[in-house]
Amino acid sequence: MKMTKPGGATSGLMLAIATVIVITANSAWAAPQDVPSRGFVWKDGAEVYAKICGYCHESNVGPVIRGRDLPAAYIRTIVRNGNRAMPSFRPSEIDDESLAKLAEYISKN
Ligand code: HEC
Repeated sequence: MKMTKPGGATSGLMLAIATVIVITANSAWAAPQDVPSRGFVWKDGAEVYAKICGYCHESNVGPVIRGRDLPAAYIRTIVRNGNRAMPSFRPSEIDDESLAKLAEYISKN
């Protein structure tokens, strides 16, 4: 009669399960860190304004754009296409969703 080594098959299985759990947990954990390589996602319109637009538009390099009731569609067009001294921004810099939030934020604040 052949005796199974204590823990042999069972610990192998447990190790396999533990490995699967670790891999699953790791990939779930890694997801948020992947964001920058897939295209950075901004928190909200105020953040984009503060970190990008404010650099010029709060320092007299560009005209004041807040509190002027500028239409959101106009802001989106200028941001995507630029206008003379105003640089254009690509979707990899400001994704469409963030741009929509940004335009809304500027037009309402
Ligand atoms: C590098 C400086 C700079 C940055 C950064 C910048 N702008 Fe501008 N922007 C300008 C300048 C300069 C003008 C004026 C362009 C002209 O008329 O020659 C302008 C014009 C504009 C206008 C037109 C204003 C009007 O009176 O019609 C809008 C709208 C605008 N910018 C939005 C934005 C937004 C939104 C951002 C952030 C994503 C942004 N800009 C970032 C420099 C900048």
